[in-house]
Amino acid sequence: MSEISVLQKHRAGYRPKLPAIFVKNGPRLRVVETGEPGSQHEIITSAFPKTLAFKPVVFEPDQKRQYKPLNVGVIFSGGQAPGGHNVVAGLFDSLTAINSQSRLYGFLGGGSGLVDNKYQLLTSGLIDEYRNTGGFDMIRTGRTKLDKQEQFVKVAQNCRDLGITGLVIVGGDDSNTNACMLAEYFIQNEAEINVVGCPKTIDGDLKNGQIEISFGFDTATKVYTELLGNILRDCNSSQKYWHFVRVMGRSASHIALECALQCHPNLTIISEEVAAQSLSLSQIVEQIAGLIRDRAGEKMNFGVVVVPEGLIEFIPEIKALIAELNEILSAHHEYFNSLPTTKDKHQFLNSKLSAASAQAYGQLPDELQWELLEDRDPHGNVQVSKIETEKLLIDMVGDLLREWKAEGKYQGKYAAQNHFFGYEGRCASPSNFDADYAYSLGFTAGALLGAEKTGYIATVRNLMKHPADWIPGGRPLAAMMTVERRRGKDVPVIKKALVELDGNPFKVFALQRDKWMMSADYIYPGPIQYFGPDEICDRATMTLVLEQGREILNALSTVDALEASDFFSQLAPDSLTRLLGMVQHLEVRPGQVVIRRGEIGQCFYVVMEGELEVLGGDDSTVVATLKKGDPFGEIALLADVPRTATVTAKTEGDLIFINTYDFKEFLSEHKELEQQLSELGKSRLAELKDKGN
Ligand code: FBP
Repeated sequence: MSEISVLQKHRAGYRPKLPAIFVKNGPRLRVVETGEPGSQHEIITSAFPKTLAFKPVVFEPDQKRQYKPLNVGVIFSGGQAPGGHNVVAGLFDSLTAINSQSRLYGFLGGGSGLVDNKYQLLTSGLIDEYRNTGGFDMIRTGRTKLDKQEQFVKVAQNCRDLGITGLVIVGGDDSNTNACMLAEYFIQNEAEINVVGCPKTIDGDLKNGQIEISFGFDTATKVYTELLGNILRDCNSSQKYWHFVRVMGRSASHIALECALQCHPNLTIISEEVAAQSLSLSQIVEQIAGLIRDRAGEKMNFGVVVVPEGLIEFIPEIKALIAELNEILSAHHEYFNSLPTTKDKHQFLNSKLSAASAQAYGQLPDELQWELLEDRDPHGNVQVSKIETEKLLIDMVGDLLREWKAEGKYQGKYAAQNHFFGYEGRCASPSNFDADYAYSLGFTAGALLGAEKTGYIATVRNLMKHPADWIPGGRPLAAMMTVERRRGKDVPVIKKALVELDGNPFKVFALQRDKWMMSADYIYPGPIQYFGPDEICDRATMTLVLEQGREILNALSTVDALEASDFFSQLAPDSLTRLLGMVQHLEVRPGQVVIRRGEIGQCFYVVMEGELEVLGGDDSTVVATLKKGDPFGEIALLADVPRTATVTAKTEGDLIFINTYDFKEFLSEHKELEQQLSELGKSRLAELKDKGN
């Protein structure tokens, strides 16, 4: 690499955090089984007779065994996701810690590199250049599907030639399905090559009980929410446009939902809800146009609509149409392509489609009709990233509003802008979370190979805790399979996790969305932060926080802590509820510096659990101890001065914090509390002076 940015230079020095078991013992670990094997559909049992018998595993220290050097190959497969280079770095560090003579080969351009034997030896110098960087450019990626016997034979031969006994496939649901097929083939053919997968995808849909999230979702959604926040602010500044923003996510709407939870746009469509309510395309259009009409009635001819990329496939009439097209195109592929004119092609399709699907097809604009006929990706998926649903909706909504205007049902202005946030987020420099998580996954994959496991996906759980408390392990890939129809056949594939309508993220969204529709209650999350306070740099996605059920627990324990506080216990219930909406949580570990003397105060804190110490001018004498319910950080907040003391955690603990801007606004409506806090601040300052600080 020639020239690198200043950020990249600083970021190169970032040391990803690892689970404590790796910090203490390195990757030379033995595995213990922790669950039962999967029981499955006949198609799955016959496809994976060996690997389906495996059980989930976690690690335990193992000092006794001798570890030989391992030669391992790695590929990236499918769409880019921030953190990929850290998976490779974690894998490299793990393998070389197992035995310094281990070698890691990167196969180039995804599965095709593995089949065609295009590889590069990954040296420590090369790895160092890519630590903590975004993208997959170190070894590139591809979407070649590995599912054919002749491919497996070539892969086995290429591995044998390089002495490779382990392969790591970094991919999404389809790529990990292939990893499982490869593992099964190698066992059945006694090839002595172990295969381990790593959960990657910005879409966030490769998750289950043991995979809490795929790497890449955190960073990509942070990029999209930054962009969306900027659009919302632009929109609210000029108040003259309706912005239609399509966000990536081939099937599931996790990205759209995260954007909604973070930024509060006026309307966010969730594909899974569209399917559950069997909404037709015209009903969706009516819903959007209705909102535009209602806001126009309040003189708000502006707003933002977020559209998930996969929407089109969830609209029941189009879903049925796509399923029929898939069957027709796979059965008559060559004949269809040989038809000379568009008219011939349409005639042929109409003769094969059911009446309902022919009607649905006929109602679509020409461009969309063609997009639905485009080649599927190698895994048989419609390439939804090429379908410009946001433009389709803009046009259809415009037509309906014109009709309503003519009928006197709507008087407003409708000027629309379209955006697609997709590729912008996939190669961003990984957030701290993704840098740590991806590195830990790579390290785990190395440890699994060291323990001679095959047919597993690397897992790292307990992600809402500090990385030291993360739990690495492995889940059998075959146990994650379901049966889907692809290219006219029922085949085993790893189950995609869609947005659950009874899950916490959707429920929290559904509770608030009516309020967002008619307001400009926008939130601007801003860019990813790599340097600065933990509460900004290590901020988790709302999806993860809510899915781990913590929000509800947090809300309860926050009320408990606030009620235990001399200051907040007197707040009326509705003020307490408002305050709850502003707080965020921070877990602290003994010795962690929460605020530092001389820094500009950004947040106000209350202790929920644990003890903290206020240090005097020498930063070592303890001048006060803070316990549950005690506030701190009020002096910088109320007197607009830099922090007057350093506060560190004495024990493990839990804090809530509120940014000063929000809290000042809250205090301006709660003068009594402001007065009490200001008196507390004065007495603390006096105490500090008395103690000679
Ligand atoms: P993966 O599932 O392979 O991680 O890909 C995710 C994704 O970014 C989707 O959100 C998007 O639809 C697709 O890739 C785009 O694919 P391509 O890079 O081939 O255009």
